[in-house]
Amino acid sequence: MATAHPFRLVRNPRHGTPGVVVLPEGGWRRARDAITAWPGYAPTPLVPLPDLAAALGLAALHYKDEAGRFGLGSFKALGGAHAVARLLSAELARQGIARAATPQDLESGRHAAATAGITVTCATDGNHGRSVAWGARRFGARCVIFVHPGVTAGRRDAMAALGAEIREVPGNYDDSVRAAEAAAREHGWHVVSDTSWPGYTEVPRDVMQGYRLMAEEALDALPAPPTHAFVQGGVGGVAAAVSVALRARAKGARLIVAEPDRAACLLGSAEAGTPTAVTGDLDTLMAGLACGEPSLLAWQELERAAFAFMAVPDLAVPPAMRLLARREPPVVAGESAVAGLVALILAAQDGEARTTLGLGPESRVLLFGTEGATDPALYARLVGEAGVDSAEPFPILTRSS
Ligand SMILES: Cc1ncc(COP(=O)(O)O)c(C=O)c1O
Repeated sequence: MATAHPFRLVRNPRHGTPGVVVLPEGGWRRARDAITAWPGYAPTPLVPLPDLAAALGLAALHYKDEAGRFGLGSFKALGGAHAVARLLSAELARQGIARAATPQDLESGRHAAATAGITVTCATDGNHGRSVAWGARRFGARCVIFVHPGVTAGRRDAMAALGAEIREVPGNYDDSVRAAEAAAREHGWHVVSDTSWPGYTEVPRDVMQGYRLMAEEALDALPAPPTHAFVQGGVGGVAAAVSVALRARAKGARLIVAEPDRAACLLGSAEAGTPTAVTGDLDTLMAGLACGEPSLLAWQELERAAFAFMAVPDLAVPPAMRLLARREPPVVAGESAVAGLVALILAAQDGEARTTLGLGPESRVLLFGTEGATDPALYARLVGEAGVDSAEPFPILTRSS
């Protein structure tokens, strides 16, 4: 049966094969203990969506809503800022200033004279840079963020408001990753990247350990373990963190990674059997997912643990945002937050995809709503002034034949 929007689904041929440990338990416990002790920490809500579950012929559907995470608007608050604290602590130890400075030590300003001389840098589509900028401000370091021309003014402003210096470089996200790395090498700065490559894994591993808290909170709050989880993929870091948590606590749950069809580097890597880049401007509404090169660490987890990969079109994104905005109370989901929801809706309506993924009336599905309105002006435009009250039909739910 055809659906209203085209999508691609690739079942992972290596699903279930053994692999390396990407996120060791010790690092996870350190991340959990550190982040849950930060001021203002609270688990984000897990929103049940029973009506949508019924419409899609599923037993249960839950949406982990990251819009309120530490006031930063996305789950990325968990990763970059944690990695900044870890990096500063390690650097103070290396300089012989403090043996094991905690986030609280750093935030107290006790080591401010030393940390002020340390610069952290990264590339971003918006959310990761905001987390790194927030961490740098809280823990007392200088911060320089590299963006590509596609990063919106709203997202740049949010990082600048946290004290970061914003530098635009030509090209796409992956080019800005290389620019941050080159600048760090030139000036002796420290890269706090959310993606990893051969020889650079320590910091992104800390970033991913922070993300794992989102998945663990969801598993804590669910009434029964999920049979399926849909999560969006950029470089794959958050999907890999979700995967590790699922393997530990929801044995047999199927992980489906959803990407924009114009930046589906994880799907392409699954097809090729090796990490494979997508090049070009990666032009997609789902700005946080506009990444063309998989993270090495993430791929090591996903290549053996993801059940399937899906590529979904931009056209389906605003209706999915409106579907959530129309709820009472409204769920505010940004463009990159709904890729998993779009993938689920498209797959659940397609007989072949439904069979491939094993979706049915017994399925308990978990979605990760990874951001809120991280660019408020864009959100307002896409959801529309009348979005919350709108009675428009939901195009993704309309079968074309
Ligand atoms: C809102 C949102 N969701 C998902 C992702 C994807 O995360 P990753 O790049 O770790 O795959 C991002 C990345 O920036 C994001 O901002």
